Amino acid sequence: LHRAALDAALPRDGLVIAIGGGTIGDLAGFFAATWMRGVDWCPVATTTLSIADSAVGGKTAVDLAGAKNLIGAFHQPVGVYAALEALETLPGRHRRAGLAEVVKSGVIADAALLRALERDSEALRAGDPQVWARALEGALRVKARVVARDPRETGQREILNFGHTLGHALEAGVRPTLLHGEAVALGMIAAAWLSERCVAAPAGTQERIVSLLRRLDLVVKRQELDSASVWKNMRYDKKRRGSQLRFVLTPAIGSATVGHPVGRKLLQGALGAVSGVCARGPEPRRSGAKR
Ligand SMILES: NC(=O)c1ccc[n+]([C@@H]2O[C@H](COP(=O)([O-])OP(=O)(O)OC[C@H]3O[C@@H](n4cnc5c(N)ncnc54)[C@H](O)[C@@H]3O)[C@@H](O)[C@H]2O)c1
Ligand SMILES: [Zn+2]
Repeated sequence: LHRAALDAALPRDGLVIAIGGGTIGDLAGFFAATWMRGVDWCPVATTTLSIADSAVGGKTAVDLAGAKNLIGAFHQPVGVYAALEALETLPGRHRRAGLAEVVKSGVIADAALLRALERDSEALRAGDPQVWARALEGALRVKARVVARDPRETGQREILNFGHTLGHALEAGVRPTLLHGEAVALGMIAAAWLSERCVAAPAGTQERIVSLLRRLDLVVKRQELDSASVWKNMRYDKKRRGSQLRFVLTPAIGSATVGHPVGRKLLQGALGAVSGVCARGPEPRRSGAKR
């Protein structure tokens, strides 16, 4: 753009307001982080995913060469507005997919939230606004708590990447494309499978997560996942060390630990487990199921 046009159109020390979902938030936030070395910004979150997750925490980024979030910056917003009323117009697939981040929040840091999701899964499917508000608030609280302890992801904040190591690879490289939340749902199934094998998560942990994801309509039906191309996609993972990927795992629901090395063979096993889940038909509805 011509310099004069930029001067006229863009803020020097104003406020960037990002009305939209995670895509707009990541883009506008990255712009705000870099424009004039940083101006204030405020997301007005209009999708399940952005309310539950991306609007809080100050991570901003754009994709490059098919790799997720390759350039980005930490830039905390001055405030966050959760536009719950906007969810009414959000297409159903997007509305549901964002719930994966709510499930994630329960798995990694809030067992009571996960139990509430299990209890309320029918009401969530039916779109009960109060139950939705409660679920999203639960996820927001987890995110805010974790980010406040580690704003620049030097350690503990990495637990928020549960399900994302594989999720990002699937989001970037699987056709037909998956939504972020759908990819993260599959990534969480893989991470849960690994958790039972690598950090002694109780038997049944993966099945519990799969069952909830199914009841929330979050398990997509897919063909076999091709482990060679997934492995190739993972080479950009920012948490990778050498040839080993590092996963976030859950030793018990409501907790998570970071930095677990996973080699190709184990990953293949986890992918096989995900493929098996995707190939199975939908689970019968179990309203009011108790745990
Ligand atoms: N920065 C972070 O911490 C973070 C965390 C998680 C995900 N993300 C990123 O967020 C992105 C996904 O965000 P998303 O799931 O919010 O999707 P999105 O922002 O891509 O929005 C999905 C679609 O819905 C439309 N839309 C948005 N709000 C609407 C509304 N209220 N009514 C009707 N249509 C509406 C959008 O125009 C778009 O077509 C991914 O790129 C992901 O990497 C970032
Ligand atoms: Zn995410």
